[in-house]
Amino acid sequence: MDRLHISAANAGKPISLRLFGIFYEDLNHAGEGGLYAEMVQNRAFNHPEPLNSWEMITAPGSEGTMGPYYNSEPTAVNHWGLCLRILSMDGGRVGVANGGYWGMAVAAGKAYRLTLDAWCSVDFAGALTATLESATGEVYARAEVPALTTQKQRLTITLTASGTDPQARLVLAAETTGTLWFDFVSLFPVDTWKGRPNGMRADLAEMMAALRPSFMRFPGGCFVEGDQLSEAFRWKENLGDLAQRKGHWNRWGYHSSAGIGFHEYLQLCEDLGAEPLFVVNAGMSHTDTVPEAEIDQWVQDAVDAIEYANGPATSPWGARRAGAGHPAPFNLRFIEIGNENGGPLYHRNYPRFYQAIKVRFPEIRIISNVPIPDQPVEIIDEHFFATAAEMAEKSAHFDRYDRQGPKIYVGEYAACHGDCGIGNLRSALGEAAFMTGLERNGDVVEMASFAPLFVNVRDRHWEVDAIGFDTARCYGTPSYYVQQLFSQHRIATLLPMSLDGERDNLFFTTGRNLAGDIIIKAVNMGDTPREMVITLDGVQVAFTGLAIELSGDPDAANTLNNPRAVVPTERPLSGLSPTFSSTFPAHSLTIMRIGVEA
Ligand code: AHR
Repeated sequence: MDRLHISAANAGKPISLRLFGIFYEDLNHAGEGGLYAEMVQNRAFNHPEPLNSWEMITAPGSEGTMGPYYNSEPTAVNHWGLCLRILSMDGGRVGVANGGYWGMAVAAGKAYRLTLDAWCSVDFAGALTATLESATGEVYARAEVPALTTQKQRLTITLTASGTDPQARLVLAAETTGTLWFDFVSLFPVDTWKGRPNGMRADLAEMMAALRPSFMRFPGGCFVEGDQLSEAFRWKENLGDLAQRKGHWNRWGYHSSAGIGFHEYLQLCEDLGAEPLFVVNAGMSHTDTVPEAEIDQWVQDAVDAIEYANGPATSPWGARRAGAGHPAPFNLRFIEIGNENGGPLYHRNYPRFYQAIKVRFPEIRIISNVPIPDQPVEIIDEHFFATAAEMAEKSAHFDRYDRQGPKIYVGEYAACHGDCGIGNLRSALGEAAFMTGLERNGDVVEMASFAPLFVNVRDRHWEVDAIGFDTARCYGTPSYYVQQLFSQHRIATLLPMSLDGERDNLFFTTGRNLAGDIIIKAVNMGDTPREMVITLDGVQVAFTGLAIELSGDPDAANTLNNPRAVVPTERPLSGLSPTFSSTFPAHSLTIMRIGVEA
């Protein structure tokens, strides 16, 4: 039998308390058609195909056309709209429909807020009706839109659904002839997370919150860079009125409405109790770069972002934040310059961002993508994507790191290569083993975030993710539960330990949490259970505790239809003495929390 000795006499070596955070990127429709609760796809008609996601509804016998409308005013941010011509009304309604992102989920008794920017021709004398209905026309909610005029107006109504349908659609239709124009059509559930207008889907945000993240990295990932600079996330274009947000193509293959802009991100961090970690474009996309003469503007954007987040309400950008409803600062403390960038251009641009930020905001901690010769580097972001076995091996990766050097942020990691399927127990255990290494090196590794966070199962670009969902349902992958367990049972100080026995396939961290309880995290990646005699040296004998286990078939995975195939189980530990036996099952993560008598 193997033996694990834990020296528990002392408080132990402190490690980072902000180790486990989250990384959010709009990949896999994480945001559009996901966390972001907007139900209309292409609400501002600023998709490269202006009428994308919109279709004509014409009752037999009636006649109409739908076409793009172009607003040529040079001051317009979004030039395109939708023009509906109702030509004859011999059969019934003529209108337009939007099916959202693979359908709109409506639920009986729930209210939905419709916002329109619309106007009509002089000869339109009828009423515009909004309905939520099934694909076959069953109506769940109906309301008349307040009278349109020939001047553009913003109109808002609430629709309350009488039925539940995960694939409903919105129809705007009339029963008289004339011409209607729409510039903006938005539909949100009233019950967004924490009731925020322009807010988040409650079930998905709850899953984020249950991870208890200490920080949230945003907005990417490759999303920060774009395949071209025109696709890069520019935070100043994503503020204020939703109809005036420019949107852009997302390099993950779909259009971004820019609905989760910088302000919404900061608000979400506050609601989650997570510190913001904002990634700015370093003047580089995947294929083009900002000319040297223009880089100062991008640097200024980074400095202004900090002023927006933290500046007094009397400062120019702080005033914009206050005007958006948040006079208090958001306390942004981490800025990352670029995502997965490097090379001579990055080495040239990084110091410009670094110096400009430090001059205005010396308290901001700056994260670099790589070490930069002869430049101050505070934190370096390293990413790891590998097989489960390789991730487990990498648990020793940081053991050799210089304790006097820069801190490390593991900004993205997952076991997603090889036999990891769509995120099975094997991949989760590879990550758990890796995370024991992060904790053991938690004096140098300050932060880490699994990636990616979300996958809409209708648009899976990345196989292994933490949270899967469709329009109405969601589930955690085994990786999600590993993240949650490590986060819920954070180690504040490490306790020295030694193992007498075969080390193969076993990975540990041992320490104390903030309350002083002893925490043992053990990962058994092997095919056989491992019996272990555990000795806690230097603590009083009588104690009770809790064991939480995630184990099973390494190929098992959770899905929308079977969301609980791999979930943690809990059992109390009682009658323990300073030496006790425990078995770590094959393919398992076990976390023990043991209370110690004073
Ligand atoms: O996490 C998914 C992608 O992987 C990110 O966009 C990128 O930074 C990384 O290569």
